[in-house]
Amino acid sequence: MSRFIIEGGAPLNGTVRPSGNKNEALPVLMACLLTSDTITFERVPRIQDVLTVCQILEEMGVTVEWEGEETLHLTAKNVNTTSPSAKLCSDIRASILLMGPMLARMGRIELPMPGGDVIGARRIDTHWEGIEALGGSLRFQQHKIVGQIKKAQGCDVYMDEPSVTATENLLLLAVMAEGTTVLHNAACEPHVTGLCNLLNAMGGRIEGTGSNRLTIHGVKNLHGARHRIGPDFMEVGSMLCLGAIAGGKVKIEDAGVSDLRFVLKTLARLGIHPTIAGDSLEIDGTRPIVVKKEVSGRVPTIYSGPWPAYPTDLMSVAIVAATQSVGTSIFFEKMFEGRMFFTDKLMQMGANIVLCDPHRVVITGPGKLIGSRMSSPDVRAGMALLMAAAIAEGRSTIDNIHQIERGYMSIDKKLAKLGVKITREA
Ligand code: EPU
Repeated sequence: MSRFIIEGGAPLNGTVRPSGNKNEALPVLMACLLTSDTITFERVPRIQDVLTVCQILEEMGVTVEWEGEETLHLTAKNVNTTSPSAKLCSDIRASILLMGPMLARMGRIELPMPGGDVIGARRIDTHWEGIEALGGSLRFQQHKIVGQIKKAQGCDVYMDEPSVTATENLLLLAVMAEGTTVLHNAACEPHVTGLCNLLNAMGGRIEGTGSNRLTIHGVKNLHGARHRIGPDFMEVGSMLCLGAIAGGKVKIEDAGVSDLRFVLKTLARLGIHPTIAGDSLEIDGTRPIVVKKEVSGRVPTIYSGPWPAYPTDLMSVAIVAATQSVGTSIFFEKMFEGRMFFTDKLMQMGANIVLCDPHRVVITGPGKLIGSRMSSPDVRAGMALLMAAAIAEGRSTIDNIHQIERGYMSIDKKLAKLGVKITREA
């Protein structure tokens, strides 16, 4: 199994450019199933999750053609099955996004149970309720979800939580429904907006893009389009946290700054204050970072929530930054109950962290981190361990790195370009 070996402690300097957002790439690629025309995607992150989606689609009859590193053409002229590969679907959570487009296109799906990170319960009730509201019927049958629909009927859906992939599934189904669907309490992450933009470019009629109330006027047909995937704000946030604690000066180009207001506000509480120059962020890691107390003098709490709140996927990297910030902070992960356990690995490296319960940690910094041997439990925790190893004293080994490479394209090359002494062992 592959691993990264990192000699930590070198100051990091230079410029990075984020790849496309994984969580936008996964739903927009699925949208190819809604038309026989070709959809062309630019800035596609060539990461394992994306390659798995391509393989699932290809096995279902979709033509998959790469042009260079990051441009992808998908043509779903012939879809020859309603039963995608069980092995591939169980590799990724995003296989659940086949439900909406396959019900729209074929009126049926036999979806093997989706896999993905073990970071919490990951309920699918919101998908289920929404699809049934649109006229579908779903049932579990031998480790599969079997879905059927005659023709989706537009309706009013009040989602029980703003689930990202449930919103995407309902968009992918409702876009070709008969009549108008209104999704209340919808997710509004930039990747959901990206999907709305693609569907509109394909001839869809979606209003309210970027808000939590989406009005979808169903259309009869969709056509080909070209779509550029937005920058990965998880990668931008990670590089920002790393740059702030790595003793040099890092510039992040093409950062999608307009989407980062809440992220920047939250990281400011840890003392991270990048300079904004156009669409770039510049962070000076030669200066110490200091936790900003609340006006009452209390310890600040960093908490995650659905967009526009601070993203759960950026909690782990902020936790590493907090180990180097002067002062005490509390992290409250509200969404997933399994995302804080990786902090035991940071404690093993010397970080002053108290795990209070599955959702909360208290961190006091700054403290020296010492290189260690670790294994990456999930994609976001893995990135955090990589950051910790990059600033730690001495050598670290990180095993199970497919859990990092699933989400971050060429991460070892990008870090090496900044000055991280990193090698990859097969
Ligand atoms: N949740 C709440 N309150 C809410 C909304 C959600 O507690 O108001 C809980 C849910 O109950 C669930 C969790 O938060 O346990 C996540 O909910 P959601 O259904 O939105 O997650 P998802 O659609 O399964 C996507 C991303 C995840 C990301 C979450 C949250 C994709 C393919 N996956 O998952 O990405 O963490 O949204 O933003 O888009 C990752 O990339 O590392 C990853 C896990």
